[in-house]
Amino acid sequence: MTLTEMTAEAARRLSRKRYAHSLAVAAQAVKLASLYGENPVRAYTAAVLHDIAREFSADRLNRLLPESCFDPYRNPPVLLHGFAGERIAAAEFSVNDLEVLEAIRYHTLGFPGMGKTAQIVFVADYISRDRNFVGEAFRRRIVSLPSEEAVLAVIEATEDYFTKTGRPLHPDTEKEAAFLRRKRK
Ligand SMILES: [Fe+2]
Ligand SMILES: [Fe+2]
Repeated sequence: MTLTEMTAEAARRLSRKRYAHSLAVAAQAVKLASLYGENPVRAYTAAVLHDIAREFSADRLNRLLPESCFDPYRNPPVLLHGFAGERIAAAEFSVNDLEVLEAIRYHTLGFPGMGKTAQIVFVADYISRDRNFVGEAFRRRIVSLPSEEAVLAVIEATEDYFTKTGRPLHPDTEKEAAFLRRKRK
């Protein structure tokens, strides 16, 4: 499938709002890829498909991922959409690049040791143009950082927001932050 075909198919499957979000994330991901010297096609592919399962019902997500290894992500079931999206990308969009699949899988929560494309999509998903809760100053700061520091800054911003609303970070996100802080030393 070409990138044009993939994009058209994403448009067909997603709501207008989710499709616009996917394109905004893809544009941001391509910019980050060029800043970090990473492959822009990988970044675009992962970003345009990252939320391909975001609008699936809880039932559909649970049916797609019956294995017990997904149990830590079933509550709420929306946490499964990256894992489900990875399967859809592989089975229905013929994506077989493991870095792209990993980026779709981990875009919601992060994961310790995730690769560059996954870092790019994780960051792009937070600072894309359609995210009106993100200020210009924060966006500028993020794009001035190396990818691992950018991931950490996004996790810290999420943590601040979650603390205000009394929500804990998911253990995978905690582990990714701890992993990146250890690497700094
Ligand atoms: Fe998502
Ligand atoms: Fe997203």
